[in-house]
Parts: sequence; structure tokens; C-alpha cells
Amino acid sequence: MNLNSSLFNIPLVNNVLYYDTIDSTNNKAKELAKRGSVHGSLVVAKSQTSGKGRLGRSFDSLSDDGLYFSLMLRPRVNPNHLSGITLVAALAVSKSIDKISSTKTSIKWPNDIYLGQKKLAGILTEAGSDYVVLGIGINVNTSSFNDELLHTATSLYLETTTIFQKEDLLEHILYEFSALYDQFIKSDTLSFMTEDYNRRLGCLNKEVYIIPQNRSLQSNNPSLIDVSDLSPMTCNGINSEGALICYDEQNKIHFINSGEVSLRII
Ligand code: BTN
Repeated sequence: MNLNSSLFNIPLVNNVLYYDTIDSTNNKAKELAKRGSVHGSLVVAKSQTSGKGRLGRSFDSLSDDGLYFSLMLRPRVNPNHLSGITLVAALAVSKSIDKISSTKTSIKWPNDIYLGQKKLAGILTEAGSDYVVLGIGINVNTSSFNDELLHTATSLYLETTTIFQKEDLLEHILYEFSALYDQFIKSDTLSFMTEDYNRRLGCLNKEVYIIPQNRSLQSNNPSLIDVSDLSPMTCNGINSEGALICYDEQNKIHFINSGEVSLRII
């Protein structure tokens, strides 16, 4: 992977570190943050030996077929609104992938990117007292998955039979994210992008089960989690704070905050 020098033209990118192999770009970006590194420090790796996913899971990134990077930010935003950065990133990733590969990705709220029924990309945001690390992993040129991921994951290559330049995708995402992030920081709300996000939302107007986080840990695959005691809700999109608006069977409205739950479309 040859990083383009034009990365430095992107307003948000102030420092770039590239590794052939690293444990986790998120870990490295957190280390940089704690050592006082500048806002907009980007860590990119060709492969990761301990890629991390949400809810303490691992993220398969041993092969160099994917795009793995983390951006360290020092956002000047109401700390209660920090989770919005993850949704901003999900929209940027979804839009950029569609632009570069002519696909039609969807967002699994809050922050997974899907193609059809399979996961294409994941986002892990980790916050410290004065920084946020935004980690993004995308299955780009992966030609096969192990048994565990076979039925739940896909790649751009498997969907389009085209090999993509990971550096081009990286640049697109960072440009898109820079523009959206700027609007988010200036307005301190997601209202400027809710329409765009909701248009890509996989569960929009569908029935879903909202699965509590302790139960989400039971399995990587939401369809294997016991939901027999849960009631379905209808999903109506996100609001300007990024909460998922849902209606229960009595038509009572619920605002679901990310971090607390995961989602299964019925
Ligand atoms: C998820 O699907 O649960 C989130 C996956 C996030 C993976 C990326 S790859 C780059 C960065 N470094 C990590 O260790 N994780 C994120």
C-alpha cells in the first residue's frame, strides 16, 4: 500500500503513521493521544495482529486485503455528543464506498456498513479524557472468509469482482469525513445529515428487536441471540442526537441510544 502524499491536503489530517503490521491501529492512536500527539493524527496499517471490534470482540485483520486505519481527534464538542462522531463516520464510509465502487451499502445503526445481508465494514470509536480514536476496518479485496465469518461478512471484491486501490478508498473516506465532521463540530448536532443517514439506514421502517448489550455479548451473530422475551419495535430513523427512534406495539415512542444495545432486523 502506497499512501498518497495528497492525504496531507485533507483538512483533518495533520500527521500520518504507516505500519506494515501492528497489533491494532486504535491502540497505537490511543498511545499517540496520551503522548500529546496532534488532533488529526492518522495511523494506517497493512495488517493487524489484534484488531479490535466493538463489545470486546476481535476484528479479523491479519490479511493485507483490507483497509485498517484510526484517526485520533481532539474534538471541541459537548462531551455528551461525542457518540455522534461514530454516526458521522458511518455516513462518510457508506457514501465513499458507494462512490468508489458503484455499490449501494446500507448502515446498520449505529456504525456497521453492510452490503445486502452481510457486513462489509466496522467502526470502533474509543474515547479518552481529551481525545477520540475513530477506528475503521473495511473488507476490500478479501477473496474468502473463515467458517465463522463466511455467512455474515463480505468484501468489495466478493461483491463486484473488482480489486480496489485501498489508498484511494482511504483518501475518499477522509475527505468525506472531514467535510461532515466540520459541519458536526460547528453545529453540535447531527440534524444536517439525518436525512442522508436515514436514507441509508438498513432498518428504516422495518421491525427490529433491540437487544440489550449484556445479551449482545452472547454471540457475534445477532440472529443467534435469544430474543424470545423481547417485543418487536418499528424503526423510524435517527434523530438529531443520533438516537434511534422506535415505536413499540402500543405505538409508544422510544429513543434508543447507541452503546447500550445492538439491533436485529426481523
Ligand atoms: C466492529 O466491527 O465491531 C468494529 C471494527 C473496527 C475495526 C477497526 S480496524 C482499524 C481499527 N483498529 C482496530 O483494532 N479496530 C479498528
